[in-house]
Amino acid sequence: MAEIGKVLLLAGDGIGPEVMTEVRRVMSWFEKRRNLGFALEEDLVGGAAYDRHEVPVTDATMDKAGQADAVLFGAVGGPKYDDLPFQLKPERGLLRLRKDLGLFANLRPAIVFGPLADASSLKRELVEDLDIMILRELTGGIYFGQPRGIETLPDGQRRGINTQVYTTEEITRIARVGFELARKRRGRVTSVEKANVMEAGILWREEVTKLHGAEYGDVSLDHMYADNCCMQLIRQPKQFDVIVTDNLFGDILSDAAAQLTGSLGMLPSASLGAADANGRRKAMYEPVHGSAPDIAGQGIANPLAMIQSFGMMLRYSFDRDADADLLDRAIGDTLAGGLRTADIMQSGMERVSTQAMGEAIVNALERAHNQ
Ligand code: IPM
Ligand code: MG
Repeated sequence: MAEIGKVLLLAGDGIGPEVMTEVRRVMSWFEKRRNLGFALEEDLVGGAAYDRHEVPVTDATMDKAGQADAVLFGAVGGPKYDDLPFQLKPERGLLRLRKDLGLFANLRPAIVFGPLADASSLKRELVEDLDIMILRELTGGIYFGQPRGIETLPDGQRRGINTQVYTTEEITRIARVGFELARKRRGRVTSVEKANVMEAGILWREEVTKLHGAEYGDVSLDHMYADNCCMQLIRQPKQFDVIVTDNLFGDILSDAAAQLTGSLGMLPSASLGAADANGRRKAMYEPVHGSAPDIAGQGIANPLAMIQSFGMMLRYSFDRDADADLLDRAIGDTLAGGLRTADIMQSGMERVSTQAMGEAIVNALERAHNQ
């Protein structure tokens, strides 16, 4: 059996290992039935890495991640680590992976599977068939800007500082990804910032407009302030196609978009770097939901965001669109069949565990494959 690529699995903390077990079940099916093998390596990240090595990610793990074709990432964090110094917190492991691998483009698709339209907190007609893409800049902005820190002033007060900073190059490379994505979708980009109060937002708007005029006249572009975008996402989400925005606004808007789909447990993501000479990009795939310590260890987490993240890996790292389509179909069929994890449970449906959901996806894959 030919292996088509090298994948590093970083399950992390909380529900990370539970949902990772289910995605591995799905990967084994693809290996057996679709001849899609990966050379797999496993390693620790976040609190799990801290417990063993006293850092949230080791240099050795970073090397492995740099050499892999793709990283599949679970989740990090938990109350046990709340009192650690800032640099040792589990989240720093994730942020180092994003930054050091140069994964500047974070794709967060918010898709409502038909059978889940009633699981959204919005009315069915507002979210039915929703398909939007939030494109979040992931290696710049206030998450990484200097100066930053907490300092003590001469009068004894303390002051916390973070800096929102973007350069022309950082803005144009993410905007370019947005325009390219829109060309393959419905041809519309909404660029989101706070140009009414922030200089970094004014520059963002000017650079996006300039690139649009120079190269992407075929794509429609509009601009929106981040607060208005938040409101519009909840008022009329189907007005959007691709939303391109900075690191912090993207973090916030993608949580809002997740809830439109019924649950944070349904949202996958892909984080991509720049293409090299061979067109290959460094890439990491992770569910948007986080480690959910409140439900960890109970076997009730929804594995579908993690499984869909593997689907994005098939599409964006390995060009296996037919296999990714098959997986999407298996997920749709399973939901249509009435199976629900706790987070998307509705009356009249059958509540299942994390493992039962993973097994059901494999069964649905088998059926779809044989058709
Ligand atoms: C996300 C998460 C992370 C972020 C945390 C865990 C550092 O909320 O991926 O959306 O803020 O980027
Ligand atoms: Mg977030």
